[in-house]
Amino acid sequence: MVEVIVPATSANLGPGFDVLGLSINLYNRFKVLETDGGLNIEVPAGTIPELPTDKKNLVYISAKRLFDEVGYKYRGLHIAIEIGVPLGRGLGSSSTAIVGGLVAANEIAGARLSKDEIFMLATEIEGHPDNAGPAIFGGFTICYNSGSGFRAVSHKPSDSLKPVLLIPNSVLETKTARGVLPKEVPLTDAVFNIARSSLLVSVLLTGRSELLRDAMQDRLHQPYRASLIPGLNDMIREIGGATGAGVALSGAGPSLVCIIDRLSEKDFYEKIRQLLKEIGQDYLIQFADFDLEGARVSGR
Ligand code: HSE
Repeated sequence: MVEVIVPATSANLGPGFDVLGLSINLYNRFKVLETDGGLNIEVPAGTIPELPTDKKNLVYISAKRLFDEVGYKYRGLHIAIEIGVPLGRGLGSSSTAIVGGLVAANEIAGARLSKDEIFMLATEIEGHPDNAGPAIFGGFTICYNSGSGFRAVSHKPSDSLKPVLLIPNSVLETKTARGVLPKEVPLTDAVFNIARSSLLVSVLLTGRSELLRDAMQDRLHQPYRASLIPGLNDMIREIGGATGAGVALSGAGPSLVCIIDRLSEKDFYEKIRQLLKEIGQDYLIQFADFDLEGARVSGR
């Protein structure tokens, strides 16, 4: 039995659409056992959305993809999934399943693929790299297409910063949230995002929290996705204005991610609680931390 622990992730961070991502210390666990035959998948009851227990399950699809890649002939599989990452909220839950399946299968097959190779497979399955990157490598990752596949560079964010998640009750499918994006964007918006994402990399490394609010602004995806998340633009502006935090849609949403100065935690909580009450928005305020390790096999 192999147990793989995979962290939640927050992709985009505002301007770094499909490029930047953070690893967060909420975890899904995947236990995978090679059996004598058949497929048996145990999932927690009553999750929304419901998790498939057949060959459509992402953990299974990903494990099989790895076995096929390395030519390992498995007999049967038993998969058990424990959920600590809210599903369908823009916190990388699908990515945890893909990475969990790949890493577990890699162990079962004799650990033949490197993390970089697992990352390439994960990106192929998921279609974009900015959740798989931090889920595999931990910390704060910059992902790019080298021309012969996706690569990720991972860094430890400054100790003075801390992520806070605002998690709503609703779910949003990434496919829907990508469906509202335009095929082309104005050059001025592209330049705006290059400037902000470059600034954000600097802030995450140096901890200059007074720049967070500017650094997490975006013009490439959030303005369009606001059509699916009523009040999104106002919320981002008002939270930033009231607290000075960097605020962005987490992944494709509907959760928000805030990055704050660690020392302002208490003050931030009071302000955000009050603000959410005033504007009548119901979000769970989840103080979190960066995960620096990424996916790991339990007991290692
Ligand atoms: N970069 C992707 C998107 C992340 O925003 O669609 C999805 O989790």
